[in-house]
Amino acid sequence: MTSEISVRPFGGPCRAGVLTPGSKSLTNRAMVLAALKPRITTLTGVLLSRDTEIMADCLVKLGYSVNVNAEEKSIKIVGRYGGIPNDYAELNVGNAGTAARFIVALAALRMGGEYVFDSDEAMYRRPMAGLLSALKEQGAEFEFLGAENHFPFRMKTWGLKGGEIKVDAGESSQMLSALLMVAPFADEKSKVALSGETVSRPFVDMTLGIMKDFGFSAEPDGNAYDVAHYDAAARRGDALEKPAQYAIEPDATAASYFAMLPALAGGVCELENFAGCKLQGDVAFVSTLEGIGLVKTERVENNLLVFAADNPVFPEKLELDFNDISDTFLTLAAASALLPFKTTITGIAHTRRQETDRIAAMAAELKKVCAEVSETEDSISITPYTRDELAKKIRGEVSISTYEDHRIAMSFAVLGCADLRGDGSPWIKIENPHCTSKTWKEFFEVLGCAKSSSERMRIVGVDGGAAVGKSSVSKECSRILDYMHVDTGSHYRTLTYGLLEGGISDVDTEAVEKHLGGLKIGTELVGNTARMTVCGALVDDAEIRTERINSKVAQVAAMPAVRAFLKSYQRSMADFAKEKGFAGLIMEGRDIGSVIFPNADVLIFLDADEETRAARRAKEGISDSIKKRDEIDKNRKTAPLVMAERAVRIDTSHMTKGEVVAKTVSLIVESK
Ligand code: CDP
Repeated sequence: MTSEISVRPFGGPCRAGVLTPGSKSLTNRAMVLAALKPRITTLTGVLLSRDTEIMADCLVKLGYSVNVNAEEKSIKIVGRYGGIPNDYAELNVGNAGTAARFIVALAALRMGGEYVFDSDEAMYRRPMAGLLSALKEQGAEFEFLGAENHFPFRMKTWGLKGGEIKVDAGESSQMLSALLMVAPFADEKSKVALSGETVSRPFVDMTLGIMKDFGFSAEPDGNAYDVAHYDAAARRGDALEKPAQYAIEPDATAASYFAMLPALAGGVCELENFAGCKLQGDVAFVSTLEGIGLVKTERVENNLLVFAADNPVFPEKLELDFNDISDTFLTLAAASALLPFKTTITGIAHTRRQETDRIAAMAAELKKVCAEVSETEDSISITPYTRDELAKKIRGEVSISTYEDHRIAMSFAVLGCADLRGDGSPWIKIENPHCTSKTWKEFFEVLGCAKSSSERMRIVGVDGGAAVGKSSVSKECSRILDYMHVDTGSHYRTLTYGLLEGGISDVDTEAVEKHLGGLKIGTELVGNTARMTVCGALVDDAEIRTERINSKVAQVAAMPAVRAFLKSYQRSMADFAKEKGFAGLIMEGRDIGSVIFPNADVLIFLDADEETRAARRAKEGISDSIKKRDEIDKNRKTAPLVMAERAVRIDTSHMTKGEVVAKTVSLIVESK
């Protein structure tokens, strides 16, 4: 791989569906818990990266049967009910914080074991003292082979006594998590008590949550946690039988990059399986963006659609405490370069001791693209240029250093997706992009796919009966996706208007055909909607939606001559959309799926019960013979209203407009 990558800005709005890899924190916790269960557990949707490989490797060295299936992204583990199979092992935890803390605590459960631990050199300096002291009090013995209370060391184990287990986890909440997970298998029922500073709650809550999923229980009690003993009684409990399969949540921190995209590039991003995430604190990043007014969200089944906000109103400056979602602060910080307000992010002092000094690194890189950047021990403040100023300032591309920190690389890559100059020219270059492989090897590929989707013209057909909401949904979807919109109903209405104005009755076929023969129709683009013109003029929209037209249009539309007249015109709209540079076309009507574009990329059939439809029309203050029109439309010989076989039916009776739009957008995004 090259050691530099130019980020190609999005040519149009984002229209992507993204499934982020499994959460690292959950994958490593689940491996430990599965090893502790008295049964076989298959973990699905796991993250396979260096840190999780280290964890799997350590478990194998301890004697567990661990089967990693890279293709299916699953790990099958034979649990040993708190037992550690091998009484001797030499283990290397690399630079994986979770493996370092969790595996040491796990091995300590063994009665009469001896384990030699080593790690990467970087790990020699990372804090372990709190955990090791707690284990010492519980019966383990240590011989340090380097500095006291650090890797490397030799540990002799005699099981855990249980009772009150005191731990100073101030330096890393992973030490508390490690003890909570093994405590159910101590000799006696345990209470794990914090003796030092309080720790970051989101990760402890994550541990408590996943323990519960696995049938273990630990309840907070002030600064301590009561951990239920996993004895025979617990074993008999029904919790024991599940989960034989356990689905790891997609990584919420990784999702932050794609949640940010619509705010910078416009459009929509569908975060797959994200709506079901309940264990990761970082899911709150999306609601934070929503709170600022940068995006709007809508849930569709298990997915969350994140839309660019429509006409947002922003504060002059913004100050946010990111302590609980600190891994995502880089995502917002990088984006701040293009947000129209000053951003201050606080509560992030501890990130100075992560992959790199993240505050200092972000400040240094942001200075390359912002008017002013300042930092304090625990905060960063970013004053952006206006977009025009920035576009003028930057010649060519700005090179962003990444400090071997995957999050810096991913955050700035998302910033680079914004089309700063409006001509698609790259303006951000990421140095050493391979550093993203720590948690997401395919990140740049996924980002690239989100973009290239606009290259082929896509056609979406939206059919349905009268007053089911086709127009409002089609228009809104076209706006979000920047697709061209065509309302074929308005074509039939326009012709009906012309016939009525000319005093021609629909039963006089000859006169109708003659009238049509003399018509010159064309197209005019009004916003995203392509409207039909007759003899060079647009018929006023209000004129074609009157009671007079409502009562006559279905008869006119049933005439074979009328349908033949409009068919080729409607089909030509695909070329028109392409000519105008649209990436897609959304055409609504009655026969789009059955006659006009049966091979459309997506076919949708909207439906609603009669009451709802009547109520919708009444609300618009229009008298409309919906039922009669539907009857004629369904029973006519040429192109009757039917649901195409490939179409997806959406019953909108009990859905808000936002929900129908989200469902439709989701079908379009997923159809790629
Ligand atoms: O009022 P509503 O939005 O339900 O109807 P519309 O889409 O404006 O269509 C008006 C009338 O045009 C329908 O009742 C149909 O008779 C006819 N139409 C059709 O036959 N085929 C289409 N593709 C679209 C509309």
